[in-house]
Amino acid sequence: MRDADLGEGLALGIKSLDEKRKRFLESLNAFFDAQERTGQACLAESVVGWLKAFAAEHFHVEEGYMQVFGYPEYESHLKEHEGFMETVCRFEDACAQSGGDSREILDYMQGWVKQHLLGVDRQMGRYLAEHLR
Ligand SMILES: [Fe+2]
Repeated sequence: MRDADLGEGLALGIKSLDEKRKRFLESLNAFFDAQERTGQACLAESVVGWLKAFAAEHFHVEEGYMQVFGYPEYESHLKEHEGFMETVCRFEDACAQSGGDSREILDYMQGWVKQHLLGVDRQMGRYLAEHLR
């Protein structure tokens, strides 16, 4: 998860969002490191709890910006956030039933970072940057 493009590439140019995104990636990397060091089983619950807390806070802020500035892709972006929360809840259920598998969760997160954080979020960031001037 330490691809070179995850540094500056993550930034949207909106300070309040970028600080959270940077901390999010640092925490995600810490989970990857811990998984490598300790094995997967004991981590799954921590990863799920952290993801839910991050998403609840961060998505709310992003969605607020999109609404305030009339972002035309708001509905589809919102659906991605909702899909993410549903997936995390499925992982949470799996954790409750069988302890979960942090490799699955972190694999999913790797895809999410590339597709959402570096894709649709940056698209949103470009729009917001234009309208925040
Ligand atoms: Fe987003």
